[in-house]
Parts: sequence; structure tokens; C-alpha cells
Amino acid sequence: MDKERRLAATRAVRAGGKPPQSVTVPKVPPIYTSSVFTFDYLEQIDEVYEGRSPGYVYSRQRNPGIDLLEEAVCSLECGSEAVAFASGMGAITCSVLALVRSGDHVVAGRVLYGGTLTFFKDDLPKRGVETTFVDTNNLDEVRSAIRPNTKIVYCETISNPLMEVADLTALVEIAHSAGALLVVDNTFASPVLCRPLEYGADVSINSTTKYLNGHSDVTGGVAVFAPYVSGESACGEDAGGPAGTEPPAAKVRALAALYGPTPSPFDAWLTVRGLRTVDLRVRKCSENALELARFLCGHPKVGVVHYPGFESSPYHDLGKKYLSGGYGGMLSFEIKGGSLESARAFIDSLSMVELVPSLAGVSTTVSHPGKTSHRAIPLEERKTYGVGDGLVRVSVGIEDYADIEKDFRQALDAVPVR
Ligand SMILES: Cc1ncc(COP(=O)(O)O)c(C=O)c1O
Repeated sequence: MDKERRLAATRAVRAGGKPPQSVTVPKVPPIYTSSVFTFDYLEQIDEVYEGRSPGYVYSRQRNPGIDLLEEAVCSLECGSEAVAFASGMGAITCSVLALVRSGDHVVAGRVLYGGTLTFFKDDLPKRGVETTFVDTNNLDEVRSAIRPNTKIVYCETISNPLMEVADLTALVEIAHSAGALLVVDNTFASPVLCRPLEYGADVSINSTTKYLNGHSDVTGGVAVFAPYVSGESACGEDAGGPAGTEPPAAKVRALAALYGPTPSPFDAWLTVRGLRTVDLRVRKCSENALELARFLCGHPKVGVVHYPGFESSPYHDLGKKYLSGGYGGMLSFEIKGGSLESARAFIDSLSMVELVPSLAGVSTTVSHPGKTSHRAIPLEERKTYGVGDGLVRVSVGIEDYADIEKDFRQALDAVPVR
């Protein structure tokens, strides 16, 4: 190889490889795509690993942009520490797996996101962990399900897809008096409406795929932890938590660093950008959802409507207690008779509103839990708690409300009267 070519090869590899020197910092933090970090000398590796010098080693373990996402969600949830994941399910499964071991027991809500139910029902037993499913709003049932080896009580702040609101304070009391942790999936409420750690929960998890990112272009999840024994949370409150040897956050971070369900730096960056507007979006979604729920309730073809914003909802009082700034952008309903045919006729007649098996983007979408999130749960089982094939779930967006109602009205008009 001649000298010129050799130089070109080296320059191609080396030139432009260091961040520029600057006394000013970018207004918006960059996307730290680097998978690894460079050290000036060998001892520096020990210094960074042992926390004696600030720094990063390897992005599966920690990355500056992912740290910023964790800091932002931790602050929103008023927690003491957060761990980010490549999906909401990553956050749920890794958090639970890090906090239980073979022989332990979990008490979980029977109405939860379908993926979470499948994890508790089918995956945890293979690891020697049994789950008892309960109606988390029936506190006697929760109490009687507790066993000496119960390590986690698990619920969703607002349940998917029935919008039941959990009585967080009561569940904390039951969990802690049994020496267990309360782990809450806060995805449907988002920290805009509820911060479970403020009520004493130990872990609050968000699928950031939903409201926190909010633009349907990222899959992610973040678990946020209360101070373990005692200390200041991001909002200056002591959120408590039972005492023990190793803090839950440390256990979850260690498991995540080992298993590697790390989000991509670009997704972390997009999520931080998305969450800058989460407060505005969630409030507007909630406003539109309340109006839509009222419209559906008054419509002659509509049967049950699940939304905690109604005074008549069995979850209204809990909603008033735990949700602030609105009752959320999610609702679900059945056409009278509750058949799959009428749900199909309605969904297929929508024109602006899209059929999307996710939620919490800026646009209004509908989903069919039986065919999507709860597909793996047998119909006969789902029907016992109200998730039949006639159930339509709505994620209300931030459009002008009149346009949402117009589309729902024309789609309901198209549903044959039976
Ligand atoms: C309430 C709830 N929790 C968790 C998840 C899982 O999140 P992800 O899809 O980001 O894994 C979902 C997904 O729809 C959900 O609705």
C-alpha cells in the first residue's frame, strides 16, 4: 500500500473523532450514540467504576443521554432513582425479576395490560414464582391473598382496559404491613395526573412508548424508585419504603446492566424531547376524553362506558383522590349488546380516527383489547371481568374535540341497530 493511501486510511478512521472543545454548551443535550467511552490511563477505569471520577464505561450499563432520560422521568415521578429500558415490558419484567426469587409470591390485579398478565401467569411460574390475581379494588380480597412469602403487590394506577383507579394508599398499607413492595404501572395516568411514589408506592413504572414520549415513534419504559429506607425524593418528600439490605433500584439496575434491555440513545433523546410537552398533552387529552365519554354515555347505541371522570363511575372518588388535572385520555366502551359484530361495525366505520394497537399519541385512536393487548387471555376468562369482544378502547388525542365527536357520531350511525 503506498504512503498516500495509508494516510487516507488512518485519517478516515481518526479525523473528526473527538468532540470539539467549546466553552459554551449546546442548548439541547446531544444524542450520545457512542457505545463505549475512552480512558486516558488504565487506573481511570477503576476510578470511574468505583465512582471516584465521574464518567461512563459502556452504554449497556450507562450512557449520558439515557441518564438524562432517567433524571427527567425520575423528577416527574418524584422518585429518588430511575432505570430506563427499551420497552415498558422491559421495565416491568426486569423490575419484577430483580425483586423476586424462586419460592416468592406476587399479588397482582386481574385487570392489567395483557402482556403483564401473561408475564405473571406464564413466565413467572417457570421461575418458581406464583401470582395470585385479585380485584385490587376489593381490599379484603387483596389482604386475604397475601402470604408470608409475598414480595410484591402489583397494580396499574388506571387499569388497562377498564379504567379502574387503584386505591394506592390502601394498597401501600397492605403491601408494607406484609413486608412486600407496591409496584405500580403508572402508564395510563402518567406522572402528570398521578405520582404513585407520593402515596408510598415503592416503584412506579411507565411505558414511555405512551404518554411520556407521546408521538408514537419510540418504544421504551422507565422504572422509578422511592427512596429505600429514608431520604429526600426529587420533590423533597420522604416517600418511605420498607427497610432491607439492598435497595430495589440497585437490584433492578444490576439486572438491567446484565440482561441488557437498554434503550437506544436516539430513543432516549426523542423521549426527553417528547416529555417536554407531556403536561400540555395529557391535560388536553383528558379534557377531550371527558367530553367524548359524556357524548358516548348519552348516545342511544352505546352501553357501558368506562371512564373515572363521571360522577357515576365507581372509580370517581378514587379518581378525585389520586388524579389531578384530569381523569386521563383513555376510555373504553361497548355498543349496546356488547357483540364483536357491533364493535367491528363501529371501528370499520371510523374515518379520521385510526385503529391502532397502542395508545397515548397525539392523535385519537381506537383499539380492540380482545384482538390486541388481551389477545393471549382466553375470551371466557376475560369476559368474567368485563373484557369481552365488544369492548372498544379509545386513546383520545389532542385534536379539536368537535372533529373527534363528528367521527365517532358518524361511525355509531353506521352501526346496525339489533
Ligand atoms: C398499561 C401498559 N403497561 C405496559 C405496557 C407495555 O409497554 P411497551 O409496549 O412499551 O412494552 C403497555 C402497552 O400497551 C400498557 O398499556
